Amino acid sequence: MDKLLSGTGRWTRKQVKELIRTGRVTVDGVPAARPEQPCSPAARVQVDVPLGPVYIMLHKPAGLLSATEDARQETVLELLPEYLRRAGLFPVGRLDKDTEGLLLLTNDGALAHRLLSPRAHVDKVYFVRADGPLSREDALAFAAGLTLEDGTVCKSAVLEPLETSGEALITIREGKYHQIKRMLAQRGRRVEYLKRLSMGPLDLDPALVPGQWRFLTPQEQKLLEYLLTATQTAVGGPSKKFSVL
Ligand code: URA
Repeated sequence: MDKLLSGTGRWTRKQVKELIRTGRVTVDGVPAARPEQPCSPAARVQVDVPLGPVYIMLHKPAGLLSATEDARQETVLELLPEYLRRAGLFPVGRLDKDTEGLLLLTNDGALAHRLLSPRAHVDKVYFVRADGPLSREDALAFAAGLTLEDGTVCKSAVLEPLETSGEALITIREGKYHQIKRMLAQRGRRVEYLKRLSMGPLDLDPALVPGQWRFLTPQEQKLLEYLLTATQTAVGGPSKKFSVL
Protein backbone atom coordinates (compact mmCIF):
# COMPACT_ATOMS: atom_id res chain seq x y z
CA MET A 1 0.00 0.00 0.00
CA ASP A 2 2.68 2.53 0.95
CA LYS A 3 4.63 1.66 -2.21
CA LEU A 4 1.53 2.25 -4.34
CA LEU A 5 0.72 5.61 -2.78
CA SER A 6 4.26 6.94 -2.55
CA GLY A 7 4.68 5.84 -6.21
CA THR A 8 2.24 8.58 -7.20
CA GLY A 9 4.95 11.09 -6.28
CA ARG A 10 2.45 12.98 -4.13
CA TRP A 11 3.49 11.71 -0.72
CA THR A 12 6.65 10.33 0.81
CA ARG A 13 6.49 6.88 2.36
CA LYS A 14 6.55 8.57 5.78
CA GLN A 15 3.56 10.72 4.87
CA VAL A 16 1.72 7.67 3.52
CA LYS A 17 2.27 5.86 6.83
CA GLU A 18 0.79 8.85 8.63
CA LEU A 19 -2.21 8.98 6.25
CA ILE A 20 -2.87 5.29 6.87
CA ARG A 21 -2.37 5.59 10.63
CA THR A 22 -4.89 8.43 10.80
CA GLY A 23 -7.48 6.47 8.81
CA ARG A 24 -7.45 8.67 5.72
CA VAL A 25 -6.82 5.80 3.27
CA THR A 26 -9.61 3.39 2.38
CA VAL A 27 -9.49 0.29 0.18
CA ASP A 28 -12.85 -0.58 -1.33
CA GLY A 29 -14.43 1.57 1.37
CA VAL A 30 -12.59 -0.10 4.29
CA PRO A 31 -9.88 1.89 6.13
CA ALA A 32 -6.41 0.56 5.30
CA ALA A 33 -4.94 -1.15 8.34
CA ARG A 34 -1.21 -0.95 7.77
CA PRO A 35 1.28 0.47 5.23
CA GLU A 36 2.53 -2.93 4.10
CA GLN A 37 -0.99 -4.19 3.39
CA PRO A 38 -1.07 -5.84 -0.06
CA CYS A 39 -3.28 -4.09 -2.57
CA SER A 40 -4.85 -5.64 -5.66
CA PRO A 41 -4.67 -3.53 -8.84
CA ALA A 42 -8.47 -3.72 -9.08
CA ALA A 43 -9.01 -2.25 -5.59
CA ARG A 44 -10.51 1.21 -5.25
CA VAL A 45 -8.06 3.16 -3.11
CA GLN A 46 -9.21 6.52 -1.80
CA VAL A 47 -7.15 9.09 0.07
CA ASP A 48 -9.13 11.63 1.97
CA VAL A 49 -7.02 14.78 1.68
CA PRO A 50 -7.71 17.96 -0.22
CA LEU A 51 -5.97 17.91 -3.59
CA GLY A 52 -3.28 20.55 -3.69
CA PRO A 53 -1.53 21.54 -6.90
CA VAL A 54 -1.33 18.59 -9.29
CA TYR A 55 1.20 18.22 -12.12
CA ILE A 56 0.73 15.45 -14.65
CA MET A 57 2.83 14.33 -17.60
CA LEU A 58 0.63 12.83 -20.30
CA HIS A 59 1.70 11.08 -23.48
CA LYS A 60 -1.03 12.54 -25.63
CA PRO A 61 -2.27 10.13 -28.27
CA ALA A 62 -3.45 11.35 -31.66
CA GLY A 63 -7.20 11.81 -31.93
CA LEU A 64 -7.94 13.66 -28.67
CA LEU A 65 -8.43 17.39 -28.17
CA SER A 66 -6.11 19.36 -25.87
CA ALA A 67 -9.04 20.84 -23.99
CA THR A 68 -10.91 20.29 -20.75
CA GLU A 69 -14.28 19.62 -22.34
CA ASP A 70 -15.94 19.53 -25.71
CA ALA A 71 -19.53 18.87 -26.67
CA ARG A 72 -18.70 16.41 -29.44
CA GLN A 73 -15.11 15.27 -29.26
CA GLU A 74 -13.11 13.35 -26.69
CA THR A 75 -10.57 15.42 -24.73
CA VAL A 76 -7.32 14.51 -23.01
CA LEU A 77 -9.02 14.97 -19.62
CA GLU A 78 -11.00 11.82 -20.33
CA LEU A 79 -7.82 9.78 -19.97
CA LEU A 80 -7.67 10.63 -16.28
CA PRO A 81 -9.51 8.95 -13.42
CA GLU A 82 -12.65 10.56 -12.09
CA TYR A 83 -11.09 12.17 -8.99
CA LEU A 84 -8.53 13.97 -11.18
CA ARG A 85 -11.14 15.05 -13.71
CA ARG A 86 -12.78 16.95 -10.87
CA ALA A 87 -9.51 18.57 -9.77
CA GLY A 88 -9.66 21.55 -12.13
CA LEU A 89 -6.82 20.31 -14.34
CA PHE A 90 -6.18 21.80 -17.75
CA PRO A 91 -3.52 21.33 -20.44
CA VAL A 92 -0.60 23.75 -20.41
CA GLY A 93 -0.77 24.89 -24.02
CA ARG A 94 -2.23 22.86 -26.83
CA LEU A 95 -1.16 20.13 -29.15
CA ASP A 96 -3.18 19.66 -32.33
CA LYS A 97 -5.66 16.81 -32.38
CA ASP A 98 -3.36 14.73 -34.59
CA THR A 99 -0.17 15.56 -32.64
CA GLU A 100 1.22 13.14 -30.08
CA GLY A 101 3.61 13.52 -27.21
CA LEU A 102 4.32 15.45 -24.08
CA LEU A 103 1.44 17.39 -22.61
CA LEU A 104 1.57 18.84 -19.12
CA LEU A 105 -1.68 19.00 -17.19
CA THR A 106 -2.05 21.00 -14.02
CA ASN A 107 -4.45 22.93 -11.85
CA ASP A 108 -1.70 25.44 -11.02
CA GLY A 109 -2.81 28.44 -13.05
CA ALA A 110 0.14 30.59 -12.00
CA LEU A 111 2.70 28.02 -13.16
CA ALA A 112 0.87 27.44 -16.44
CA HIS A 113 0.68 31.16 -17.08
CA ARG A 114 4.38 31.59 -16.46
CA LEU A 115 5.32 28.59 -18.62
CA LEU A 116 3.26 29.86 -21.53
CA SER A 117 4.41 33.45 -21.25
CA PRO A 118 6.49 34.44 -24.30
CA ARG A 119 8.97 35.94 -21.83
CA ALA A 120 9.61 32.52 -20.26
CA HIS A 121 11.34 31.38 -23.51
CA VAL A 122 10.59 27.72 -22.92
CA ASP A 123 12.09 25.48 -25.62
CA LYS A 124 9.73 22.89 -27.06
CA VAL A 125 11.36 20.03 -29.00
CA TYR A 126 9.34 18.10 -31.61
CA PHE A 127 10.05 15.09 -33.74
CA VAL A 128 8.61 15.59 -37.18
CA ARG A 129 8.17 13.46 -40.28
CA ALA A 130 7.53 15.54 -43.37
CA ASP A 131 6.43 14.42 -46.81
CA GLY A 132 9.88 14.95 -48.28
CA PRO A 133 13.52 15.68 -47.47
CA LEU A 134 14.50 18.55 -45.19
CA SER A 135 17.72 20.32 -46.06
CA ARG A 136 20.36 22.64 -44.71
CA GLU A 137 18.55 25.47 -46.51
CA ASP A 138 15.42 24.66 -44.52
CA ALA A 139 17.49 24.74 -41.33
CA LEU A 140 18.93 28.11 -42.29
CA ALA A 141 15.48 29.50 -43.05
CA PHE A 142 14.25 28.29 -39.64
CA ALA A 143 17.27 29.87 -37.94
CA ALA A 144 16.72 33.17 -39.71
CA GLY A 145 13.09 33.32 -38.56
CA LEU A 146 10.36 32.36 -41.01
CA THR A 147 7.54 34.62 -42.11
CA LEU A 148 4.36 32.59 -42.55
CA GLU A 149 1.92 32.99 -45.40
CA ASP A 150 -0.35 35.35 -43.44
CA GLY A 151 2.61 37.59 -42.51
CA THR A 152 3.13 36.14 -39.01
CA VAL A 153 6.81 36.33 -38.15
CA CYS A 154 8.31 33.38 -36.27
CA LYS A 155 11.31 33.74 -34.03
CA SER A 156 14.51 31.90 -34.80
CA ALA A 157 14.02 28.13 -34.47
CA VAL A 158 16.26 25.08 -34.76
CA LEU A 159 15.67 22.43 -37.42
CA GLU A 160 17.98 19.42 -37.29
CA PRO A 161 17.40 16.99 -40.16
CA LEU A 162 17.83 13.37 -39.08
CA GLU A 163 19.34 10.63 -41.19
CA THR A 164 16.02 9.28 -42.36
CA SER A 165 14.79 11.49 -45.15
CA GLY A 166 11.99 13.86 -44.13
CA GLU A 167 12.56 13.36 -40.41
CA ALA A 168 13.89 16.11 -38.16
CA LEU A 169 13.98 17.55 -34.67
CA ILE A 170 12.56 21.03 -34.40
CA THR A 171 12.98 23.34 -31.43
CA ILE A 172 10.69 26.33 -31.06
CA ARG A 173 10.20 28.77 -28.21
CA GLU A 174 6.79 30.03 -29.21
CA GLY A 175 3.44 28.32 -29.42
CA LYS A 176 1.63 29.85 -32.36
CA TYR A 177 -1.38 28.11 -33.85
CA HIS A 178 -0.24 25.07 -35.94
CA GLN A 179 3.21 26.62 -35.79
CA ILE A 180 5.35 23.72 -36.99
CA LYS A 181 2.91 22.70 -39.70
CA ARG A 182 2.76 26.26 -40.97
CA MET A 183 6.54 26.73 -40.80
CA LEU A 184 7.09 23.59 -42.83
CA ALA A 185 4.30 24.53 -45.24
CA GLN A 186 6.25 27.70 -45.85
CA ARG A 187 9.14 25.48 -46.94
CA GLY A 188 6.86 23.51 -49.24
CA ARG A 189 6.48 20.51 -46.92
CA ARG A 190 3.51 18.83 -45.30
CA VAL A 191 3.74 17.30 -41.82
CA GLU A 192 2.85 13.61 -41.81
CA TYR A 193 3.60 12.95 -38.14
CA LEU A 194 4.35 15.24 -35.22
CA LYS A 195 5.31 14.40 -31.66
CA ARG A 196 6.42 16.67 -28.83
CA LEU A 197 9.44 15.26 -27.03
CA SER A 198 10.13 17.92 -24.45
CA MET A 199 9.05 21.16 -22.93
CA GLY A 200 11.73 23.11 -21.08
CA PRO A 201 13.36 20.70 -18.66
CA LEU A 202 10.61 18.08 -18.99
CA ASP A 203 11.27 15.16 -21.32
CA LEU A 204 8.51 12.81 -22.36
CA ASP A 205 8.95 9.68 -20.24
CA PRO A 206 9.76 6.83 -22.67
CA ALA A 207 7.93 4.44 -20.33
CA LEU A 208 4.61 6.14 -21.14
CA VAL A 209 2.84 4.78 -24.20
CA PRO A 210 0.33 7.08 -25.94
CA GLY A 211 -2.64 7.59 -23.62
CA GLN A 212 -0.66 6.91 -20.43
CA TRP A 213 0.18 9.51 -17.79
CA ARG A 214 1.95 9.87 -14.49
CA PHE A 215 2.46 12.53 -11.85
CA LEU A 216 5.56 14.68 -12.22
CA THR A 217 8.26 13.63 -9.79
CA PRO A 218 9.24 16.15 -7.10
CA GLN A 219 12.53 16.52 -9.02
CA GLU A 220 10.67 17.47 -12.23
CA GLN A 221 8.52 19.94 -10.33
CA LYS A 222 11.69 21.54 -8.96
CA LEU A 223 13.18 21.73 -12.47
CA LEU A 224 10.10 23.61 -13.67
CA GLU A 225 10.24 26.01 -10.75
CA TYR A 226 13.93 26.50 -11.37
CA LEU A 227 13.38 27.18 -15.07
CA LEU A 228 10.86 29.85 -14.25
CA THR A 229 13.08 31.61 -11.77
CA ALA A 230 16.48 31.20 -13.46
CA THR A 231 17.91 33.62 -15.97
CA GLN A 232 17.20 32.33 -19.47
CA THR A 233 20.00 30.93 -21.59
CA ALA A 234 20.53 31.29 -25.34
CA VAL A 235 18.19 29.76 -27.93
CA GLY A 236 18.03 25.95 -27.99
CA GLY A 237 21.08 24.20 -29.30
CA PRO A 238 21.18 20.82 -31.01
CA SER A 239 19.01 18.22 -29.28
CA LYS A 240 21.30 15.23 -29.60
CA LYS A 241 19.80 13.58 -26.56
CA PHE A 242 16.79 12.74 -28.73
CA SER A 243 18.71 11.15 -31.57
CA VAL A 244 17.24 7.72 -30.79
CA LEU A 245 13.48 7.70 -31.09
N1 URA B 1 3.01 22.80 -34.08
C1 URA B 1 1.96 22.30 -34.75
O1 URA B 1 1.81 22.56 -35.93
N2 URA B 1 1.11 21.49 -34.10
C2 URA B 1 1.25 21.15 -32.80
O2 URA B 1 0.44 20.40 -32.26
C3 URA B 1 2.34 21.68 -32.11
C4 URA B 1 3.22 22.51 -32.76
